[in-house]
Amino acid sequence: MTKSNVESWGTRIGLILAMAGNAVGLGNFLRFPVQAINNGGGAFIIPYLVCFLLMGIPLLWIEWAIGRYGGKYGSHSTPFMLDKMGKRKIWKYFGVFGIFTNIGVAAYYCYIESWTMSYVYHSLIGTFQGKSQTEIEQFFGNYIDIYNSTTGIPYEAVIFYIACLLLNTWILSRGLEGVEKASKIGMPLLIIFAVFLAFKGLTIGTSGASNEVPNASAWDGLNFLWTPQYDSLTNPKVWLAAAGQIFFTLSVGMGTIQCYASYLKEKDDIALNGLAAGFTNEFVEVVLGSLIVIPIAAGYLGLDWVKENAGFGMAFQTMPYLFQKWGPILSVLAGVMWFGLLFFAGITSSLAMGTPWIGFMQDEFNISRKLSAWSFGLIVLILGLPTVFFFEYGVFDEYDYWAGTVSLVIFALGETILFSWIFGIEKGWNEINLGADIKIPIIYKSIIKYVTPLLLALVFIGSLITPLKNDWNSAINSFVSGNGWPLDNSSLIKQISGSAIKEQIENAKTIEEKEKLETKWNYIFFARIILIFTFLGIAFLVFLASKRREKRLSV
Ligand code: PHE
Repeated sequence: MTKSNVESWGTRIGLILAMAGNAVGLGNFLRFPVQAINNGGGAFIIPYLVCFLLMGIPLLWIEWAIGRYGGKYGSHSTPFMLDKMGKRKIWKYFGVFGIFTNIGVAAYYCYIESWTMSYVYHSLIGTFQGKSQTEIEQFFGNYIDIYNSTTGIPYEAVIFYIACLLLNTWILSRGLEGVEKASKIGMPLLIIFAVFLAFKGLTIGTSGASNEVPNASAWDGLNFLWTPQYDSLTNPKVWLAAAGQIFFTLSVGMGTIQCYASYLKEKDDIALNGLAAGFTNEFVEVVLGSLIVIPIAAGYLGLDWVKENAGFGMAFQTMPYLFQKWGPILSVLAGVMWFGLLFFAGITSSLAMGTPWIGFMQDEFNISRKLSAWSFGLIVLILGLPTVFFFEYGVFDEYDYWAGTVSLVIFALGETILFSWIFGIEKGWNEINLGADIKIPIIYKSIIKYVTPLLLALVFIGSLITPLKNDWNSAINSFVSGNGWPLDNSSLIKQISGSAIKEQIENAKTIEEKEKLETKWNYIFFARIILIFTFLGIAFLVFLASKRREKRLSV
């Protein structure tokens, strides 16, 4: 719409690296292994790949197409992209999701990203050298305990968080060129570091077995992950987890892909570019992502330990300890590579999260790239500090759940319906194939029209009414025999009312415990209020922007 916003991608390779950088993130190295382990290893892989083919790839094409189409009309964020395609007023407000999720996710995502910065620093100065497993675990506990931190730097977590945001904002203020440059440096380094660590993961074998852990074996880890188990195909829990992982890892349902694609030219290819970015992400996730944490941890601590301890903490609490086994020099190198690769993975994703807001500010309010970038940094800081200060009260998880999980599914479902049924699959299919460098199999036309929206709807309903203990069979039996549908506390419906924590409060054994949980519930409530106001604030800006547009049209 405005002259100030006519940026475009420098080179095709720059575009692909930026899009791949957007997708390849902490999710590939931290979330994927944990999801895979918690969902039965080989049982997870088939639903995961099916979701990639039937939901991931179609959504990539849909989002690239929406973005390039919107860009043609001067929109670089989803509200007015969807408005152009849907005609009804509601769509521009639905498009608020495509800015909101980015801000909400950036707030907590940058916090983890800042841990990786700090851990690179601590690996370099040798903080972890000679420490026991428990000591390294404690280090992490100290790090996130802002007030009592004993990591050497007062308020270390806050300082690194702010530094991380400043770095992101500064790169964003340099425009697409800054993003492209960061991806061109970050992505190759990330892959080199990951290949090195994956090579270690592949070659440990059983050499890490010791008296305490006689059956430690990296092979066990890999076998567990890669021996397909077909009986998982009928387990909705595994399907939901697989779909969730596909969403998060491909960055679909967020609004970032649309924004990046809006800087394409009208006839630039999207069919092949979209696939290339998607497959790069899958290579990094499925090949490199599965060859690091799991085999290394299983190689020294045994598969049973890994199954019991699968979680986010493995990357920060366990890896620095295991690297110690490789001697003083290699352990420093491995630490720098591991946290360095996480950092690059993180920053090329968090940069992407900044772009929809910046595009929106530029398009609609004529604000300069620089000022838009700094306003993004400021908003994320305000939203993010509660995740830093009240991490242990669940603010972080609350953001992750609403902005990083639920919103993605809702947005993806809505945009798919808009694309296939309102904009229309004929127009949509032409849009995807316009300027295409490959011929997409025609079957994908039906997949995009029927299968993808159906799967998305199933995922949504599945999360809405997740049955008690994720046991679908019992729930169906209970329903059929007239005893109602037992909801799990993790179901969306129960999440809204906060049943899980309320139950915990009721069952608390001591007054202290009860008070602590009540405080937690207050913080969760507070986090929700922040998120709701953020959403409403953006919706209000969209309202103002449409008034401005009307004015512009009438003169
Ligand atoms: N795909 C990123 C990851 O795997 C996360 C992300 C989500 C990035 C949404 C950008 C937008 O970590």
